[in-house]
Amino acid sequence: MKPVLGTCYYPEHWPEETWQEDAQRMVSLGLSLVRIGEFAWSRLEPTPGTYQWGWLDRAIDTLGRCGLSVVLGTPSATPPRWMLERYPDMLAVDENNNTRKFGSRRHYCFSHPGFRVEAAKIASVMAERYGNSPHVHSWQLDNEYGCHDTIVSYSEPARQAFRDWLSVKYVSIDALNEAWGNVFWSMEYASFGDVDLPNLTVTEPNPSHVLDFRRFSSDQVRVFNKALADAVRQHSAKPLIHNYMGRVTEFDHYKVGDDLDIASWDSYPLGFLVDRCGASPEWQKRFERQGDPDLQALHHDLYRQVGRGRWWVMEQQPGPVNWAPFNPAPLPGMVRLWTWEAIAHQAEAVCYFRWRQAPFAQEQMHAGLLRPDSKESATYSEIEQTHREITELGDIQVGRADVALVFDYESCWAWETQPQGQDFDAFTIVFEFYRGLRRLGLTLDILRPDATSLEGYKLVFVPGLFDLTTDLRLLISNHDGVVVVGPRSGSRNENFRIPNPLPPAIKELDCEIDYVETFPKGSAREVQGGGAIHTWFESLKTSAKVVERLADNSPILVANANVYYLGAWPDEQAMASMFEKLAVSAGVNVERLPEGLRKRETLSHEFIFNHNAHAVEFRGEQIEAAGVRIHKK
Ligand code: GAL
Repeated sequence: MKPVLGTCYYPEHWPEETWQEDAQRMVSLGLSLVRIGEFAWSRLEPTPGTYQWGWLDRAIDTLGRCGLSVVLGTPSATPPRWMLERYPDMLAVDENNNTRKFGSRRHYCFSHPGFRVEAAKIASVMAERYGNSPHVHSWQLDNEYGCHDTIVSYSEPARQAFRDWLSVKYVSIDALNEAWGNVFWSMEYASFGDVDLPNLTVTEPNPSHVLDFRRFSSDQVRVFNKALADAVRQHSAKPLIHNYMGRVTEFDHYKVGDDLDIASWDSYPLGFLVDRCGASPEWQKRFERQGDPDLQALHHDLYRQVGRGRWWVMEQQPGPVNWAPFNPAPLPGMVRLWTWEAIAHQAEAVCYFRWRQAPFAQEQMHAGLLRPDSKESATYSEIEQTHREITELGDIQVGRADVALVFDYESCWAWETQPQGQDFDAFTIVFEFYRGLRRLGLTLDILRPDATSLEGYKLVFVPGLFDLTTDLRLLISNHDGVVVVGPRSGSRNENFRIPNPLPPAIKELDCEIDYVETFPKGSAREVQGGGAIHTWFESLKTSAKVVERLADNSPILVANANVYYLGAWPDEQAMASMFEKLAVSAGVNVERLPEGLRKRETLSHEFIFNHNAHAVEFRGEQIEAAGVRIHKK
């Protein structure tokens, strides 16, 4: 694998005379990809059905002739104002029934059939015109599905489409009533036309109703994306990409990714540290200018899975952003570190957002590689250096990890719907497990819940997985590596009911959950081997071998041969000792790392990253603040 660098560029924002020079500077900086077009609908189709291709023809030509490969965006994230005249009901509606307005972006509802046709049409006419251009490398469909909280919409078109979706799923209304348990509060329906969207109910709506609505909302993204993909594929054989986001779990990215060729995501480590990873104030202070040491890595591994091995960073933060509550500048060295980290996780490309800082509109305070006056920004030279180093390093051989962690989108929706303790969250538990394993120096893969094989993994974790399907249970039973299931995994069936026999009902283990306790933040129960558990505890009735207990003797980790069940959420210390023992028993090499230091291995290289703002001693060597070490194996 030979990774490349790129940037995001908006020719429509700048005078045409500057394009050539911009392109030449991109090339001399070492960039080879340039993404354009994803917000340009009002300039491409200023009035319905009238297209203006001239400027885009010339932009693609200028960029391409300078040696850049163009990633061309289809512009459906920014429907122009005239679209509203045509479809006044295309706007998304929030949970409080407020219609979201025109004047920024992503204002459409995924369920609007007319808008879906328009979005596919503009994608199709673009693909027809540019699909075989030698300068067009690939396509980005839309932009950041889910950004600004736009997946779940309570519009009238969504209501109609949800009823249709339900009637296909359940066929008869009696089957729906039975599956949801609608007898509970006399919520039974006489027809699909009776079923409303689950917002503005007096108290919580039926969780089965909510879960189906979340599944439906996710499916609408898949259908929308597929319509765009089909439209482009009619005219172009170039790879299709979408740029996903950090910690957006409102739709099933695996399913959307199945219809695309490459996954990519937009990585803004400093903004995410403040508003997306639940970090404590101390942690935020410590990593203020570096970002969380695990959050980006987790997404890299997740999107590698979503892209079935092929993935990029489409937008990399190059300096301060504009949208977080506070926006520090990255510590010198961090943009280089983030780039190398993505590459260590097997990214094929890293593109910086954006080429030049915009002196107008919403993102004036968002850094680019150039300042608004076209002078180089603070990190320009870091990118030059990184490009030089990438060229010198040569080929990186990609490989599979020994350790895997299952992450599931439906579980996020399920536990948001019925958290039981307000801090139980499917993303957070996977993230904490991921962090705990990385602190032990481990390289991980993320697996989808419908994985078809666990082969080759020495150690697999399945935490917080709402529905442990028959297929996954079978894979676990037949696996010869160590598998750790739980907490909470398999505690509902697909209709959001407690299964009988009681969970976890793992056939290798005589173990059932008697009852569950949840605790507020700050409350913990000691573990015999050190550390504690927090947030979630399952009282296990078991005759299986007890591997770990609380100080009061309650079992929390039980096992039979290589299959384990974990009935609690361990804290950092308990996790370190538990996970280390599990790794050793699975034959995985552990190397406890100093805080803030992380490593990742590929077949050919070992990459070490110091996320701290100070130097760290490791294996007898000083690694400078924001430092990167790469060892050839
Ligand atoms: C991303 C988005 C870009 C830009 C950027 C600012 O979420 O895709 O268009 O808004 O954030 O950080």
